[in-house]
Amino acid sequence: MHFNAAHKLYNPKWDEEKNIEVFGKCANTNWHGHNYELIVTLKGEVNEDTGFLIDAKLVCKILDEQVCEKLDHKNLNLDVEFMKDTMSSTENLAIAIWNQITPHLPPNVKLHRVKLFETPRICAEYYGN
Ligand code: NI
Repeated sequence: MHFNAAHKLYNPKWDEEKNIEVFGKCANTNWHGHNYELIVTLKGEVNEDTGFLIDAKLVCKILDEQVCEKLDHKNLNLDVEFMKDTMSSTENLAIAIWNQITPHLPPNVKLHRVKLFETPRICAEYYGN
């Protein structure tokens, strides 16, 4: 899946100087954006009748409703309820996406991995826990 979002990395416990020292351009006051790419891996037993683990249409629906619609063209720091009071790093966003998806999967399907690209060369993978 794909979504665009704005954010900044800024720890309110620190002063401006410390934030720029740690986060550099990512702490830019007036935000910056990323074209995020999200890859989700599911696991479980294949259904004998369908040959599917899960219907791909259902996966798209869950990811659209629970992730993309809530993140696409949003400001992660200001607009997204499930990122409130969380540093909007790739790591934290991958964990938050995991938590958004898992309650909506059918009981026979487990989430195995959330892989989130913030840039073509920077990504985070989360396997739960
Ligand atoms: Ni960034």
